[in-house]
Amino acid sequence: MREERPIVALDFPSFEDVKSFLSQFPKEEKLYVKIGMELYYAVGPEIVRYVKSLGHSVFLDLKLHDIPNTVKSAMAVLADLGVDMTNVHAAGGVEMMKAAREGLGQGSKLIAVTQLTSTSEEQMKEDQNIQSSLVESVVHYAKKAAEAELDGVVCSAHEVEAIKTATSERFICLTPGIRPAGSAASDQKRVMTPAQARQIGSDYIVVGRPITQAEDPVEAYQTIRAEWNA
Ligand code: C5P
Repeated sequence: MREERPIVALDFPSFEDVKSFLSQFPKEEKLYVKIGMELYYAVGPEIVRYVKSLGHSVFLDLKLHDIPNTVKSAMAVLADLGVDMTNVHAAGGVEMMKAAREGLGQGSKLIAVTQLTSTSEEQMKEDQNIQSSLVESVVHYAKKAAEAELDGVVCSAHEVEAIKTATSERFICLTPGIRPAGSAASDQKRVMTPAQARQIGSDYIVVGRPITQAEDPVEAYQTIRAEWNA
């Protein structure tokens, strides 16, 4: 299930920024990119159509969480856009995740967010009244996502082993917070290098600023890609 291309997080505020970023890559270099809420809400579905028209693959990171019927209808719209992968919050429940799968169909990958990595164990206990450990909660949600026949979860690289043990080797673990050796962690707290992420069994890595803010983004991409596949 491992994807050889690191997913590049297109965390840009406008269409123009995306265009100028992508134009630096040779035409035949087909990327896998992540489009998040900011860009999608600013530009709209057109951004997905544009990126797809260039032949790139798209992970649309919108983290849906609503009643099953609404999520199912929204997923049908995203399927029509041709997204390669998208996601929901596992906290929406098994019924919602099943409805999401139904709406999206089998042509795109569907993964779940378990606990956001910005949530601490204390916050989870206080805000969500979940009294288990954070890892137990993450693993519980991953099992629910597997039960709903989702393809995997977004998770911290540190949680991959526990999740795969509780689900299956084939269950996708997509991990952000990746930094090549020697680069700035920025606001990421617990980072891993592409090589470490591979070693612990991540299937997809998401890399943003080390590529998008690099002096030479194409070179940064190739270096990270090589480290991820070494
Ligand atoms: O620039 P950087 O490599 O930190 O970007 C990582 C991307 O992955 C961002 O779009 C960020 O929102 C996203 N992400 C994350 N941690 C999570 C989930 C998503 O960094 N747990």
